Amino acid sequence: MKVGIVGAGLIGSKRADAISRIPGVELSLQADLDLGRASVCCAKYGGQPTCDWRDIVLSSDLDLVIIATQHDAAVPIAISALEHGKHVLCEKPLGRNASESLQIVQAAERAGKILKAGFNYRYYPHVKKARSLVDEGYIGSLQYVKMVLGHAARPDYDKEWRVDAHAGGGGALLDPGIHLVDLSRYFLGNLNASSQALQNAYWKTPFEDNAFVLLTTPEGRTASLHASTTEWKNTFTIDLFGTDGYIKLQGRCGFYGRPKISYNKRWAWLNENDNVEKTEEYPDQDDSFFEETIEFIDAVRTNRQPNGSGYDALEAAKIIDLVYSTRTIH
Ligand SMILES: NC(=O)c1ccc[n+]([C@@H]2O[C@H](COP(=O)([O-])OP(=O)(O)OC[C@H]3O[C@@H](n4cnc5c(N)ncnc54)[C@H](O)[C@@H]3O)[C@@H](O)[C@H]2O)c1
Repeated sequence: MKVGIVGAGLIGSKRADAISRIPGVELSLQADLDLGRASVCCAKYGGQPTCDWRDIVLSSDLDLVIIATQHDAAVPIAISALEHGKHVLCEKPLGRNASESLQIVQAAERAGKILKAGFNYRYYPHVKKARSLVDEGYIGSLQYVKMVLGHAARPDYDKEWRVDAHAGGGGALLDPGIHLVDLSRYFLGNLNASSQALQNAYWKTPFEDNAFVLLTTPEGRTASLHASTTEWKNTFTIDLFGTDGYIKLQGRCGFYGRPKISYNKRWAWLNENDNVEKTEEYPDQDDSFFEETIEFIDAVRTNRQPNGSGYDALEAAKIIDLVYSTRTIH
């Protein structure tokens, strides 16, 4: 399989690295408006650099396109790639809102091609372990989740495209908070926005830098989310509360700390034979993009919907749209 990547920034480089490590798959072209960036990536991971994404979508030689650009660029590139017969992995969010996500999803349906959204958090080892514990019923019936994703950002973050109303399209809830919305759906299923408080605590940007959101399932199970771009120190935590036990996750490599999971049964201390909290800590090596890229390729090879599909991104975008539709930022 031959792959083209549009975008050679932070995430485009991670995807190029992933492709270079997967047997039977080859990076053929990488595009970036900044040709120097594309050249650096290609020198390291293979392929030819270009500064025009059209070279990628129009190439008859490519099977897969990965899109890792700013958010406003994703829609025309994804739709064109699908219309020209490529399977697409597009980094989250899929466009800037549900309407743009829907346009991309419909283009994939019309073309009969696989569309995956970049939801790499599903592929961290502690998230996968938590999901298998929930699936096997270890904590009984999952009742509510609490999640925090706090990004410390950096000086002049308010000047980056990520927080620009046009190029980024949203605040902390859209980026990086869409990962929390997606993980809430991953664990709890269908959710609706119930209430929210959006705040500009530090950055003077058009959108919020802190989003506190409650989502509920039709049966009243709850997800409590806090997404932030003003944390003192990068933070990622998830607490899952079941009728029979709990699971706690923290870290996601690098400045977020090593991924760690701890879990136990309710009132475990009463059980003389098994009262020690179970913990597992994983290496400080972020393989989530690699694992997710393998899933994308396998979904293409077996012609099935991937874990973290375009439909998942569309549902997450609808929830975020709903929160933003009643937006008051304090
Ligand atoms: N899953 C995660 O943990 C995670 C983390 C960061 C970013 N992301 C997502 O990845 C995507 C890219 O983010 P990034 O951090 O790599 O950004 P970045 O700014 O590091 O890189 C984006 C690159 O895209 C290029 N670009 C923009 N428009 C283009 C166009 N029309 N044609 C060709 N190249 C173009 C830019 O020149 C830049 O080099 C975004 O969707 C972002 O939300 C995901």
